[in-house]
Amino acid sequence: MIKLAVVMGTRPEAIKLMPVVVAARKRAELFSTTVVATSQHREMLAQALGRFDIVPDVDLDIMQPDQDLAAVTTMGLSRLCPLLADLSPDFVLVQGDTTTTLVGALAAYYNRQKVAHVEAGLRTEDKYQPFPEEGNRRLTTHLADLHFAPTERARANLLREGIEDSHVRVTGNTSIDALRLTLVRLGAADAEGRGRKLVLVTVHRRENHGEPLFRIFAAIRRLAESREDLDFLYPVHPNPRVRGVAMDLLGGHPGIRLVDPMTYDEFLLAMRSAHVVLTDSGGVQEEAPALDKPVLVLREKTERQEGVDAGTLRLIGTESDRIVSETLRLLEDPGEYQRMAGARNPYGDGRAAERILESLVRYQTGSGNP
Ligand code: UD1
Ligand code: UDP
Repeated sequence: MIKLAVVMGTRPEAIKLMPVVVAARKRAELFSTTVVATSQHREMLAQALGRFDIVPDVDLDIMQPDQDLAAVTTMGLSRLCPLLADLSPDFVLVQGDTTTTLVGALAAYYNRQKVAHVEAGLRTEDKYQPFPEEGNRRLTTHLADLHFAPTERARANLLREGIEDSHVRVTGNTSIDALRLTLVRLGAADAEGRGRKLVLVTVHRRENHGEPLFRIFAAIRRLAESREDLDFLYPVHPNPRVRGVAMDLLGGHPGIRLVDPMTYDEFLLAMRSAHVVLTDSGGVQEEAPALDKPVLVLREKTERQEGVDAGTLRLIGTESDRIVSETLRLLEDPGEYQRMAGARNPYGDGRAAERILESLVRYQTGSGNP
């Protein structure tokens, strides 16, 4: 029996670790799986897990309103360390690049437990973009024993940092597993149509707080005021530094719907119905190419260069004029729209969780490289 402790704290970790938890629980003769939630996110983690009928076995309940990085780090670490020592797992699984990811890996390392990093090797090579995620993932890499890289590019990044190839496996991204599992269940259901072109928006990154958010919201307002054929849908992240500004600058406009965070199902349906997606999210940059939706990425740098190379993502930054002109270009130039919407999904085939579990077995039984 292989004992797994799966550590998660935020919405994207829940969505992307869900396929691994579900697959491991289906093979209960091989894996005993404990889900540990730091609850760095409270409502959004519960919302994402609820969709998959996963109830955390342990909940460390660390979220504070408007929390700062040091508080999440210290509370998470001090609660995780003794817990993981008690659980004594064969592997601690962490995902991605949040503060929970880093403290999960660090707590396991302090306990001399093996760390398996899901979605390893993403890089922008700028430690402040995104912040603190680029720092979190670099540090996690050097604490981890097994590295599950979503793409060959991610593998190459790890090798360049001195990680041994024999400890890396390219699996695809588990976000595509989650997406496929969910789309099968949703079938042909569709989001409510409003007879206008849906523009789906998400924004939350720390480096966009303040001035960049003002510029992004000014652009959305300009577009909504000049184009009555557009229906902006924006599920607003509960971070007070985002929510307050969104309500002030976008509230009350008939072309802009500000809503609470949507369930994963609702959000995928909305993305499927969308004409264009405007986002600074990481996960959305992986999902939209799989749904054939063009994405304008509201950032200066991205770690999802595969999507840019494939043609689905365009990195446009946060200047208002550029956001307006790139959105209009997609609305008015069908050739350009088709080029972006028709690109190939570079993030996997939906079998990443299967490969991850297979690698854990091989590593644990000493029967070869992951
Ligand atoms: C975190 C991650 C980021 C990830 C994002 C996904 C870090 C440092 N950041 O950023 O990498 O992309 O999650 O969404 O790990 N809040 C609630 N309810 C919730 C969730 C958040 O009220 O369910 C509010 C709280 O006031 C909280 C604040 O949002 O203090 C910020 O949460 P935090 O996890 O620190 O940062 P995010 O911006 O969500
Ligand atoms: N998502 C969701 N509801 C929403 C907005 C996003 O379920 O209202 C999902 C989305 O499909 C993706 C994930 O949340 O799987 C992305 O999370 P987020 O943008 O918070 O974090 P990031 O990916 O940037 O770390």
